[in-house]
Amino acid sequence: MAEFPEPAPRRVFLETYGCQMNVADAELVGGVLRRHGYLRTEDPAQADVLLLNTCAIRERAEERVLGRLSELLRFKIERPAVQLGVLGCMASHLRERLLDRAPYLDVIVGPDGYRDLPALLDDAVDPRIDVRLDRGETYADLAPDHAAGPRAWLSVMRGCDKFCTFCVVPLTRGRERSLPPDAVVAQVEAAVAGGKREIVFLGQTVNAYRSNDVDFGGLLRLAAQVDGLERIRFTSPHPAEVSDSLIAAMVDERKVMPYIHMPLQSASDRILHEMARDYTVADYRALLARLREAIPDLAVSTDLIVGFPGEDESDYAATADFLAEARYDFAYLFKYSARPGTRAFKMTETVTEEEKGRRLKELIERQEQVSLEKNQDQVGREVEVMVEGPARRPTGHLVGKSRNFKTTVFPDDGALPGDLVRVRVESASGHTLLAR
Ligand code: SAH
Ligand code: SF4
Ligand code: F3S
Repeated sequence: MAEFPEPAPRRVFLETYGCQMNVADAELVGGVLRRHGYLRTEDPAQADVLLLNTCAIRERAEERVLGRLSELLRFKIERPAVQLGVLGCMASHLRERLLDRAPYLDVIVGPDGYRDLPALLDDAVDPRIDVRLDRGETYADLAPDHAAGPRAWLSVMRGCDKFCTFCVVPLTRGRERSLPPDAVVAQVEAAVAGGKREIVFLGQTVNAYRSNDVDFGGLLRLAAQVDGLERIRFTSPHPAEVSDSLIAAMVDERKVMPYIHMPLQSASDRILHEMARDYTVADYRALLARLREAIPDLAVSTDLIVGFPGEDESDYAATADFLAEARYDFAYLFKYSARPGTRAFKMTETVTEEEKGRRLKELIERQEQVSLEKNQDQVGREVEVMVEGPARRPTGHLVGKSRNFKTTVFPDDGALPGDLVRVRVESASGHTLLAR
C-alpha cells in the first residue's frame, strides 16, 4: 500500500476587533483550533485560514472590518484554497447579508458557534453559516489559550438581557448565561498554574452573573481564595446590577482591585429613559457616592454617548455637568451610531454628525482635564504596581498598573512581569503616572 505523507498542519491568522469579550473569545477560538492541529501565524500571507473576529457596536466598527476583508481577499485570489471567515458580533448581526458585501466568505460564525468551527472549516465547500444563538453555550469546558503576560481574561457570563435601545449586543450575543462557579475557579486555577497573577472577569453585564446561589460578589470571594492569584478585576458591570454583595466583596477582598467601570451613557433622565437604562441620574449619583465611601481610593471610569435621538442642548449640558461633578478617572466617549435591529434605530435622529462631533470634542477636552487632575492627586503617593514589561517610553523603564488601574512607569530595576513592586509617584500626565 502506498504511503501518503502526513498533511502539513494548516495555519490560521486570527485578528480581533471590539471589546475584551471578543479578545477572550479569540483566546477560546485559538484553543479550539490548536487542539484540532492548527498552527497560528501573525502573517496573513502564510495562512491557510484567515479569520476576523468582529464587532458590530457602531457603524464604524463594521466599516473597518469590511475594509479589512477586501484587503485580505488578495491572499485568497493568489491562493484560492485559502479560506476567509468572519466570526463574532458582525456574523450574528448581519448573517447571510454579509455575503452581499463579501460574497467570497467561506465561513460566517457567531459567538455561540466556536465549538464547531473546525468542522465548519473542514466542510466549507459552499459558504458555511452558523449564527445560531445558544442560551446553553458557555464554553465552560473549553480552556482558552491565554496571551503572554501576567494577566488573564476570563468570560464568566455571556450575553445580555438588558436591551438598551441603542445597543446591538443582546442581538449579537443572545441571552445571559453564567458559567458554573467551579468551572470559573478551575479556569482561574489553571491560569495561575500557567503563571498568571491577575484575572479579569468579563461579561457584558458581568455583575448580573448568577449560578444557583452564587452571585457576582460570591464569585469574587471564591476566586480570591485561589493561592498565587494577586489581583482580580472585572468589566463591564451595569450600574443597575451593583449589589450590596458586590460592594461587600470589593471591601473585604484585598485581591479585588479598587477600580470599577460604571457606564452612565447620559446624565439626562429623559434620555436614560429613552435608552432603557434602568436607573435615574439620582440613582447613579447615590451609587457612586456609596461606592466611593465604601472603597478608599476607588478609581471609576465610564462610557457616555452623545447625540442619542432627541438629545437636546439641555440634555447634553446635563451630561457635561455630570462629567465635571463625577470626576471620573477616565471615560470612553462615543458618538451615537444607529444600529439596525435595535429599538433606537426606529427613532428619528435629531443631532447632526457635526453637532455630535462638537459635543464629543467638548466632552473629551473636559475629561482630559479631569483625568490629569485625578492623576496629579496621586503624586507623592506610594503605589503598588504589577509589572507588565518594558515601557515604550521612556526607554529603560518598566510599565504596569497600580491597584487602582493607573498606567505607571518607573525605572527598570530588573523586576519581572507579574512582580508586585512599590514605587513613589513623582509626576503625572492625563494617561500615565511616572514613578520611582
Ligand atoms: N455592557 C456595557 C457596554 C457595552 S458596549 C454596558 O452596558 O455598560 C460599550 C459601550 O459602547 C457602551 O457602554 C456605550 O457607551 C457604547 N455604545 C453601545 N452602543 C452604541 C451605539 N449604538 N452608538 C454609540 N455608542 C454605543
Ligand atoms: Fe448593550 Fe445595554 Fe447590554 Fe450594555 S447592558 S451590552 S449597553 S444592551
Ligand atoms: Fe463589539 Fe460584540 Fe463586544 S458588538 S463591543 S465585540 S460584544
